[in-house]
Amino acid sequence: MARAVFLVCLLSIVMLVPTSLAQGLGVNWGSMGSHSLPPKNVVQMLKDNGIKKVKLFDAEPDTMEALAGSGIQVMVGIPNEKLAKLADSYKEAQEWVKQNVTKYLHDGGVNIRYVAVGNEPYLTSYNGTYVKTTYPALKNIQKALDEAGSGGKVKATVPFNADVYESSSNKPSDGRFRNDIKSNIVEILRLLNDNKTPFVVNIYPFLSLYQSSDFPEEFAFFEGGSEPVKDNNIEYKNVFDANCDTLISALKKVGFGNLDIIIGEVGWPTDGDKNANGQLAKKFYDGLLKKLATEDGTPLRKKKLEVYLFGLFDENQKSIAPGDFERHWGIFRYDGQPKFPMDLSGKGQGNNLLKGVQGVQYLDQQWCVLKSDVRNLSNTHPEVSYACSMSDCTSLGVGRSCDLDQHGNVSYAFNAFFQTKDQDVRACDFNGMAAIVKQNASRGDCLFAIQILNAGVRPELSIFAGLFLILMSFFTLM
Ligand SMILES: *[C@@H]1O[C@H](CO)[C@@H](O)[C@H](O)[C@H]1NC(C)=O
Ligand SMILES: *[C@@H]1O[C@H](CO)[C@@H](O)[C@H](O)[C@H]1NC(C)=O
Ligand SMILES: *[C@@H]1O[C@H](CO)[C@@H](O)[C@H](O)[C@H]1NC(C)=O
Ligand SMILES: *[C@@H]1O[C@H](CO)[C@@H](O)[C@H](O)[C@H]1NC(C)=O
Ligand SMILES: *[C@@H]1O[C@H](CO)[C@@H](O)[C@H](O)[C@H]1NC(C)=O
Repeated sequence: MARAVFLVCLLSIVMLVPTSLAQGLGVNWGSMGSHSLPPKNVVQMLKDNGIKKVKLFDAEPDTMEALAGSGIQVMVGIPNEKLAKLADSYKEAQEWVKQNVTKYLHDGGVNIRYVAVGNEPYLTSYNGTYVKTTYPALKNIQKALDEAGSGGKVKATVPFNADVYESSSNKPSDGRFRNDIKSNIVEILRLLNDNKTPFVVNIYPFLSLYQSSDFPEEFAFFEGGSEPVKDNNIEYKNVFDANCDTLISALKKVGFGNLDIIIGEVGWPTDGDKNANGQLAKKFYDGLLKKLATEDGTPLRKKKLEVYLFGLFDENQKSIAPGDFERHWGIFRYDGQPKFPMDLSGKGQGNNLLKGVQGVQYLDQQWCVLKSDVRNLSNTHPEVSYACSMSDCTSLGVGRSCDLDQHGNVSYAFNAFFQTKDQDVRACDFNGMAAIVKQNASRGDCLFAIQILNAGVRPELSIFAGLFLILMSFFTLM
């Protein structure tokens, strides 16, 4: 009898766990899109997929409230722009912690575990702007957490880009921190070590491939199809392992070889570059998730890795300074639907495929396109550049998902703008060259998207704004 009860309990436990998700797997949830999905639906999707960790880039109240009571472990973020203030003033840090952390730590609140102080603040392209402020801001935030009585549970850390370290020889064992920031990093490492806080690093095999034309393509993936890098007795078969171990060697050299490491971001984009497409992204994720499922870690540290995928959704307003692929990092499209089948458990069972966001509301089924009788397309150039500057045209071009003719290009741009403007009829004029159509304007693999109802806009506000606009146009007419 007792045994039967035990078995039933065991069975129900096994069945309750949604997926045998690769242990420690988290996701980055960014918010640089023109339209956002309702945070509650997103959190439900995380639960449906058995995802128990999420990393944010700020601490927006709507998102935090949706996460409350979910049990999901959260890393909240502080944008780089705030570092100087937090470094200068302990009071600011106290206030930040109070409003963005302590407020949510009640029973049934948000399971906050980390505060990410800044985001890749030592990136070389920032020209050192945040190098001096990162450490004092980190120190102030951790002190404020400690004083609020939360320091035991909530740890402050800094997500770093992988170019804070390098290897003179390409061998991981030659890894060391970049000279220009070495003393700053060591200060931070000491603090992290004293607080038993992990070092967070973002690792992008895609960027290795993107940045160097002679990078062996297969080394970016996990199938072992390229010449391994030999390092003492170790053979590295992929750049992910090699990169992690370069960091471990760099940490060892400055006396922190035992510090825990979290991979704060890793992923593969699906558009905006010749190597950014669904096929290669799937190949990358399949290999990565399979690797994570083994819990073997990397050659220098054979233990389970804590990893956050980047990211959940395509974000059509991210800066494209690093490249057009920046807006296509989602494992989901802009509307919360999976781009390709993905087995997060990494066990290849095929029955636990990534589930999309439920209950997504779209705008009307209509598109804005170039009128077919417009012959002289040179007149559309200013319109197209305006439309694209206000929306996202990074899918256009040879080798991307939208390799269209000139006419198609113009229509794509018009529609992107029209949708970004929530299908406002005034956003489909373009000097009389554009028309709204009810027939799906998509061409082959090139999606002419219908935007979603923006959860970021409060309905009563938009009605009010609409009325205001109608009144304004009425007065202008008079
Ligand atoms: C966090 O706290 C600060 C107060 O220091 C506040 O201004 C800010 O709006 C809060 N929320 C976010 C998302 O930063
Ligand atoms: C860094 O310097 C370069 C070259 O001087 C400049 O183009 C770029 O805008 C600077 N970036 C920042 C973030 O200051
Ligand atoms: C197209 O329009 C441009 C600008 O208005 C004009 O300079 C050009 O001559 C036109 N081309 C044709 C073929 O009509
Ligand atoms: C369409 O637009 C893309 C992106 O601007 C460009 O690379 C491509 O050459 C254009 N195609 C044609 C046929 O003009
Ligand atoms: C339009 O067609 C594309 C395929 O070309 C399809 O993926 C998309 O779902 C369609 N959109 C709507 C709203 O039916």
